[in-house]
Amino acid sequence: MRQPHLDYPALRRENFDNARAFFDRSDMLLALRPEKGLIIGEVGVGIGGFSRFLIDHMRPAKFVAIDLFDLHTKPALWDDATSVIFGGRSHRAFYEESFSYARHIMRVEQGQSHERIAALPDDFFDILYIDAGHTYEEVRRDAAAGAPKVKRDGLLVFNDYTLHDHLGKVSYGVIQAVNELIAASDWKVVGFSLQRYMYCDIALRR
Ligand SMILES: C[S@@+](CC[C@H](N)C(=O)[O-])C[C@H]1O[C@@H](n2cnc3c(N)ncnc32)[C@H](O)[C@@H]1O
Repeated sequence: MRQPHLDYPALRRENFDNARAFFDRSDMLLALRPEKGLIIGEVGVGIGGFSRFLIDHMRPAKFVAIDLFDLHTKPALWDDATSVIFGGRSHRAFYEESFSYARHIMRVEQGQSHERIAALPDDFFDILYIDAGHTYEEVRRDAAAGAPKVKRDGLLVFNDYTLHDHLGKVSYGVIQAVNELIAASDWKVVGFSLQRYMYCDIALRR
């Protein structure tokens, strides 16, 4: 039976450039980070779990947080009520308060990720980390909008380079969109980081 969601380009040997495997995404970004002038964008910040690492450990000069910031409108996240998680605040207010100590480097962009990315200058980011919507169309749009925004020697990183969630209930389009980008461009795989349930990250550089 034909399965259209599996109909995407395979990576080829020439799509890799001395790629390394890493224990986790944090180790990978610390190892591959450009030397200086770090501008980081995180597309899909959630409640700030990875933003905390990026800000506290990568110490960027500028950090752009992109999200719909509408999670407070959902009744629950995982098993917890959002009213409890956010303490009655909006998602955006919660996030900004959590990172108030970094407000001098923080730029918050609220809205559809591909539109917010597109509004930023070209050749802007040293690292652009993509982890917003996970359908093929959403990742394809974020990849298309994001690629020109990364400096020539910068990193474009995709979270959740996997076909399904670990319960096998939700299909992701990350592999499809990332492989298509690589096949159609000069982005090369330079890193791959593992995660216990295989929510792996893939890092690309030109
Ligand atoms: C998996 S969470 C991000 C987790 C975070 N990167 C981390 O590792 O801690 C995904 C986030 O993407 C946001 N999101 C989903 N679709 C989006 C879209 N189309 N535009 C902007 N943000 C989106 C959601 O609001 C959510 O906060």
